[in-house]
Amino acid sequence: MKQITPTHGDVLDALARLPGASVQSIIADPPYFNVLEDEHWDTQWRTVEEYLAWCGRWVGECMRVLRDDGLCFIFGQLGKREHGFIHLMSQLCRKHQFHDLIIWDRAVGYNERRDSFTPQYEMILVLRNGDDVKFNKHAVREPYDAKTIEQYLKDNRYKDMDARRAHLEKGKFATNILRVPSLKGASKEKCGHPSQKPLRLIEKLIACSTDEGDIVLDPFLGSGTTAVAAESLHRRWIGIEKDAGYISIIETRLAELRTRSTQHELVLA
Ligand SMILES: C[S@@+](CC[C@H](N)C(=O)[O-])C[C@H]1O[C@@H](n2cnc3c(N)ncnc32)[C@H](O)[C@@H]1O
Repeated sequence: MKQITPTHGDVLDALARLPGASVQSIIADPPYFNVLEDEHWDTQWRTVEEYLAWCGRWVGECMRVLRDDGLCFIFGQLGKREHGFIHLMSQLCRKHQFHDLIIWDRAVGYNERRDSFTPQYEMILVLRNGDDVKFNKHAVREPYDAKTIEQYLKDNRYKDMDARRAHLEKGKFATNILRVPSLKGASKEKCGHPSQKPLRLIEKLIACSTDEGDIVLDPFLGSGTTAVAAESLHRRWIGIEKDAGYISIIETRLAELRTRSTQHELVLA
């Protein structure tokens, strides 16, 4: 497959250059607005209204480039300012077609709140353009553990236990609560971006919404998680990132992935 490179630039400029209805799936993990207060990219707006207006513009462009059978996944934020994302969802769902609201269960809590429960999930709003979308439920089945399979096999209402076992071994359909642990500071996957998403989470979103060879767009590529996940799953990708420092992180991650894949191919040959 031809090697793809990230687009270094502003999201609105880069999206304007893409043709309409050209991408199958969009993974958008935008700045949250004043959550990561030390990151210049998260404090670009003076008011929440300015931030919401900016989001309206880039989401509008994303929906223009999304195919009719495609899905657009938009990450929200976590913690105290979650209500910002609720306003955004309400604004977006008045203009675009709602498809789903996924809960990303990060498995552990984040930033202790003294006045409420410790936040543990992030929301992912899913939008679509048409009624008949590509969605592969089988690609994101979740395995039952061996003990659960044994328990189910004790149910004597089933006569053909081999067929029953084969059915159980395929795993169950995933719910819209995706439990994938967030990346700890010491995680091997971590590569220097403050809001890097776990590969396993992004792989699930790509696997359910695309086939091999389809194009995935990430308008806020960050550390390149979507690019790495897409290449590992043999999808094509387009990724936009404004920060030159993150562009070099993305290039390093992709170079490592491509070296590993080449070595793997050589071993198999
Ligand atoms: C939440 S992070 C994305 C993290 C990414 N999902 C990952 O796993 O690494 C948002 C990214 O948007 C980038 N960004 C902020 N404003 C931008 C703009 N106007 N155009 C393009 N990228 C922008 C930031 O530099 C930051 O890397």
